[in-house]
Amino acid sequence: MAEDFDVRLAEKNYVPDPSYQQNSWLGDYQKAYAEFQKDPDAFWDRIAKELHWFRPYSRVKEWNYPYAKWFLDGKTNITYNCLDRHVINSRRNKVALIWRGEDDCERIYTYRQLFREVMRVANGLKKLGVTKGDRVCIYMPMVPEQIISMLACARIGAVHSVVFGGFGAAALNSRIAGAAAKVVITADVTFRRGKSIPLKHIIEEAIINAPSVEHVVVLRREQTQPVEIHKEMEIDFYDMIKDVKAECEPEVMDAEDPLFILYTSGSTGAPKGIVHTCGGYMVGTYYTAKNVFDIKENDVYWCTADPGWITGHSYVVYGPLSLGATIVLTESTPDFPDPGVYWRMVEEFGVTILYTAPTAIRMFMKLGEEWPGKYNLSTLRILGSVGEPLNPEAFEWYYRVIGKSKCPILDTWWQTETGMHMITTMLGEPMYPGFAGKGIPGVVADVVDKDGKSVPPGTGGFLAIREPWPSMLRTVYNDDERYRKYWNTIPGCYAVGDLAVKNKAGYIMVLGRSDDLIVVAGHNIGTAEVESALVSHKAVAEAAVIGKPDDVKGNIIKAFVILRVGHTPSDKLKNELLYHVRITLGPIAMPSEIDFVATLPKTRSGKIMRRVLKAKEMGMDPGDVSTLDE
Ligand code: PRX
Repeated sequence: MAEDFDVRLAEKNYVPDPSYQQNSWLGDYQKAYAEFQKDPDAFWDRIAKELHWFRPYSRVKEWNYPYAKWFLDGKTNITYNCLDRHVINSRRNKVALIWRGEDDCERIYTYRQLFREVMRVANGLKKLGVTKGDRVCIYMPMVPEQIISMLACARIGAVHSVVFGGFGAAALNSRIAGAAAKVVITADVTFRRGKSIPLKHIIEEAIINAPSVEHVVVLRREQTQPVEIHKEMEIDFYDMIKDVKAECEPEVMDAEDPLFILYTSGSTGAPKGIVHTCGGYMVGTYYTAKNVFDIKENDVYWCTADPGWITGHSYVVYGPLSLGATIVLTESTPDFPDPGVYWRMVEEFGVTILYTAPTAIRMFMKLGEEWPGKYNLSTLRILGSVGEPLNPEAFEWYYRVIGKSKCPILDTWWQTETGMHMITTMLGEPMYPGFAGKGIPGVVADVVDKDGKSVPPGTGGFLAIREPWPSMLRTVYNDDERYRKYWNTIPGCYAVGDLAVKNKAGYIMVLGRSDDLIVVAGHNIGTAEVESALVSHKAVAEAAVIGKPDDVKGNIIKAFVILRVGHTPSDKLKNELLYHVRITLGPIAMPSEIDFVATLPKTRSGKIMRRVLKAKEMGMDPGDVSTLDE
């Protein structure tokens, strides 16, 4: 492992206004951390008690390495905490959700309205035969119905599996079939940059080899030429809920019952269905929405992520709603109709907390300060970042241009698997640009060697978590072996798969993945998935893909392809391969570059050495090549 990272950066820090910490829910970070260390179970017990349980849990945790159970015997329903208790108490007419479409149309839901819609959809799903434990796939654009559908599933104990709307038919099929979904909820189109992009035909193709699917619910948005509904299988979203009551008792869920499955790319083979449970996930997302983001009663909170990713699950939907926050959702892309659209929304809605991704920040940097400069951003008080390392240049730009040098920046490190924030710089703590921070109270994070021993500051190592936490994944759906691997790779630790380094203050800088995942614009793409999509094309014999550093996206995908005999390299074939990947996996997984090659570097056992390809591509030393088959 490389040593002696440049920790000079650590000398440069920003000390925020102390009032941020004094007025925050958490208060002093060191004190809160010490309290957690003194008695972890008492710490989590205190937080869990702030939420409503139909029946109290008998124990906080049972840890049977590598299996954890949290809030044992506790009964609850996350939607009760996200909706009922706000409606019963003082937030009945508080705005829960502000949605804005591309053409500036708006839909606003108070907590009462959202509550009623969720219960109607819950009853609609019941009418279709969905019951507790059934899986429902949600493949929708960023519209209120996407969130409502998630909450409706949770209401009746159905397990949702949300698939990001940018995935193609094959990727969608493997996720629907993998979870054996009974119902799929989708829409006719998504609107993007002034155009409508059809979605329904992707579902039609994706369910051909998914025999578990009994119904497809279609939200029809196109008014002028409504898409046809095939009655044998499909039903219109609003027809489904036309005659149903807006009352639906919450299903009583055990804390350890599954809440949802969310697929994430694996470094090998098929994507992994990460399983989260009702109790622990609820406590973890509530705790962090409250204590990391410090959401208060009057905040207008905007997380720009799609609910189709974990960031959207935890920090568009469940975390902030469990706190009774006002959330913002938009279908807009950040640069359409112009690069000021986000900043205009901040001004118009009076956004106070903004949570976005480094790739978006770097794009805004490129587009120039004049765009944010046109709008009044003075309502902002906290800025967040997630998905990939926030490099110091982007940190400084975000801090100065958007935060006007007064807003703390929360660079939050976490994963689909962790469910909640794990590492960040808590409000009021000094910020070191480039370093995400330390484990939050409740999380024991470290940088270790392959034996699980801490490495000193300045020495690179593996990022690892030493203790279980409530919102940790419980298993990989139908593949518990892959779950155990997380805890069996580094002795005594949950291995996250990232490389990291600490500075002298103990802050952690995340350097990137240690495995075959590529983080493109904050999205995890498995090399294996892209390679098998390429190889499924008739002209391709073999393929290898690598991540290549990129100024805006963090990484782009570069593919190396060996053609089958009888096929010759051409630009036309290149485009055909790109199109093939787009249709199979979706636009997010498309390579930016394809090289046709005659051979690929392999080990003697036939494993492709992507590391060698990458080093060559970047003009670097490939390191140890003793296993390379010449
Ligand atoms: O490599 C890390 C990177 O994203 C991975 C997790 O991806 P995913 O499960 O899709 O969840 C993304 C949103 C939580 C991590 O293993 N990552 C995430 N946040 C950061 C990050 N890398 C550096 N800094 C971050 N703040």
